[in-house]
This record gives sequence, C-alpha cells and structure tokens, in this order.
Amino acid sequence: MAQRLCVLLLAGGAGWEAGLLPALGEAGIVVVKRCVDVPDLMASASTGGAAVAVVAGEVPHLDAEAVTHLLGHDVRTLGVTEDRALADRLARLGVVDTSGPDPADVVAAVRRVATHEVVADPEPAAPVPGDDHAAGRGRVIAVWGAAGAPGRTTVAVGVADGLAAPDRRVVLVDADPYGGTVAQQLGILDEMSGLLAVARMANLGTLDAAALVRCCRRVGERGLEVLTGLPRADRRVEVRPGVLGTVLDVTAGVGTVVVDCGFGLEDPDAALSRDRMTLDALEAADEIVVVGSAEPSGLARLARGLVELREATGGVTPVRVVVNRMRPTLGWSQREIVGMVEGYARPVSVHFLPEDRAAVDRALVTGKSLTELGDSLLRSALAEVTRAIGAPSVPPVRRAGGLRIRRPVG
Ligand SMILES: Nc1ncnc2c1ncn2[C@@H]1O[C@H](COP(=O)(O)OP(=O)(O)OP(=O)(O)O)[C@@H](O)[C@H]1O
Ligand SMILES: [Mg+2]
Repeated sequence: MAQRLCVLLLAGGAGWEAGLLPALGEAGIVVVKRCVDVPDLMASASTGGAAVAVVAGEVPHLDAEAVTHLLGHDVRTLGVTEDRALADRLARLGVVDTSGPDPADVVAAVRRVATHEVVADPEPAAPVPGDDHAAGRGRVIAVWGAAGAPGRTTVAVGVADGLAAPDRRVVLVDADPYGGTVAQQLGILDEMSGLLAVARMANLGTLDAAALVRCCRRVGERGLEVLTGLPRADRRVEVRPGVLGTVLDVTAGVGTVVVDCGFGLEDPDAALSRDRMTLDALEAADEIVVVGSAEPSGLARLARGLVELREATGGVTPVRVVVNRMRPTLGWSQREIVGMVEGYARPVSVHFLPEDRAAVDRALVTGKSLTELGDSLLRSALAEVTRAIGAPSVPPVRRAGGLRIRRPVG
C-alpha cells in the first residue's frame, strides 16, 4: 500500500487554516500535528513521519536555522503567503516552495514539495568499492574557475572520462551551486538529481558507498559514474553546509572523484553563502584544477581568481592551471601566459587547450564525451591534462621560468 503523505502545520492563527484542514483530509494528506510556534514545529519534526511543514509565511522566528533543522529531519518547508516580497525572503531562507492560501493551491504545493528526487536505479547496484580502492581512497580533484564560463564543465567531463578505466573507478560530481550542466553535456536526459538524492541521505545519516553508487548514472564506454547536479540554483539550500564534504568523503571511498564546482568564492561565514558548496568542494580537494579562458577578460579573471583561491583555501592544496580556448589570433604566446600565471601562483603545471568549436559542438550534439568521438585537437590536449593528473608519481621537474612542469609521457 502506498505510504500516506504526512504534514506538520503551523498556521499561526491565519484564517486559511479552517479551510485547509478539510481540503487536506479530502486529498488523503494527514496532518500529523498543528504546531503552535516554530520551536514546537522543530521539536515535532524530530519525531519523524512528516514530509512537509506547511508554515504561514508571517510566523515569527521562522529563520534559516529553523528551515535547515527541518531539512535535517527530511521535512521540507512550504511557505503560505500571498506577499511576493515575503515569498522571496522565504526562498532565501531555504523554504522549498510557496503557495497562496487557497486550499486547492496548498494541497497541490504540498504534493509538489513532497516529491523527492530520489534516483530510482533499475539496475542492480554495481559492486562497491572497486578492487583498486580496497586499500585506499580515491583522490578528490576539484575543477574550479572564475566567472565567465571558462570551460570548467568541459574540463571536468574530459578529465573524468579520460581518467576512467577498467581498473580505475571515477565518479564525476556536478556540484555547481548555480545549477548543473554535466547531465546535459553527457546526454543524461532524466530530470533526477543525483546530488539532491545523496544530500538527502547525508542529511538523514544514511549515505554510504552502495547508496551513493545507486544514485549515479553510468555513462560512456569507460564506465564513468556521474552524480548529476542541481536542477535549479535555488535548490542549493537542500545541500546544507558540510553535506557536500560528507558526500565527497563517501565518494572517495568508491574511487577517484572529479568535482565540477561553481565559480564564486563568496564569504563562507555569510549565513546563506551561495558558494558554500564550492568552498566545501575546494576544502575536500586533494588537488585543484583552475580553468581560465585565454582571451583578455578571461586571463584577468584567471589572475584574480588565483589570488582569491589562495585566500579562500590557504594555498595548501596543489593547483594546476588549464588555459582554455587558446588560439593564435589572440596574439600572445603560451610562454607569456605562463609568465603571467607565475606572477600570481605557483601551480604544479600549466596546460593549454585549443579553441575547438567543432569538437565541443559534436560532443554537445551527440551527448558524448570528447574521448568517445575520435581524434580532435581538444581531445589530445585534454588527454595531456588527464595524464598529468593521473600520474602523481611522476616527479615534477623545474623549468627555466621556475614553473614546475611534468615530464612528457610517451
Ligand atoms: N576549448 C573550447 N573550444 C570551444 N568551445 C569551448 C571550449 N571549451 C568550452 N567551450 C564552450 O564554452 C561554453 C562554456 O563551457 P563550459 O560549460 O564548460 O564552461 P563552464 O565554466 O562550466 O560554464 P558555466 O559557468 O556555465 O558552468 C560551452 O558552450 C562549451 O562548449
Ligand atoms: Mg559549468
């Protein structure tokens, strides 16, 4: 028998409560408790059972901490208000949705909010973890870059796919808090968010490697595992502070982890920092790949980004720089760019990827990775980056300019 949908109600004396109660009953939705105030609501959430808290937008003391507390008990908050400005404020607190007070609207919204985007895996779970990781943990490689779409996702997908091999399990995690695009790039068409599914389990303390793998999509010939990202930026509130760290920790138990991050590094202490996920990913990273674009604005952002990254992370994590969309018409050489980068950071290596519209368009149109599509300039250059990342045991050598580069392989 299907489980009944249960809600907590905090109407705060609002007139709509009288009409809502019978409407919920008719819809088969159970009101577990009519709460008197926010502390009562929070205490009731911890007793379990309810999936949604229906809360009058105007009740006092409804803050981000309360909403986060509810989420921690797998209770999503639905705000009831007609006031647009208040609805915006509630969204910033982490309230999943808002509805007007009409009972039919509230019932529909309750159903919407209660729909958990848990990935249903029709196939049996793959064995976990791979033999190659029986003894240790996979490295976490965060792919970051400043604003301006320099190619973070392109690099993250290319590197993850290139690293995946029969004896190396790789999980690509789309952790861009501004909305994920990895699924789109790889032609994963369903709307399920793997990240939201595992974040929910992490909230509940039930996330382990087997559950994580069930939430991944396996793509391509190399068996790359993909944890798809947020469907919309405002869903980032469901990945509470620290949750991504837990997710990446569990993922590293499965294999090598490549994380597609967002661009911002907003103050982590800001109560609702939009970049919390990015900062959590960078903190968990064993290595950071910084992507910049080769045109003037891209290089300026790269330079600023390297400084901001050092300030945000303390500069302890090894950094590689990938300069993307390099083309001769820009008028500067690789050597000049390396010199510029060295003025701002001491990366382990600097790599260049050519502008190759034809190759990326082919990949985007077919939903395949560059590796699967045969030879292209971009594929070869990405393979070089992948080799450098995948061969940490190769001793770094110093070049005349002082930059440490890796000895070419093969
Ligand atoms: N080397 C390249 N040559 C040509 N086009 C490229 C190259 N790298 C990336 N692109 C294109 O640039 C656009 C942005 O790339 P991508 O989505 O990887 O950037 P991003 O940094 O992840 O951006 P976002 O901020 O949207 O997440 C895409 O259309 C991509 O196909
Ligand atoms: Mg991206």
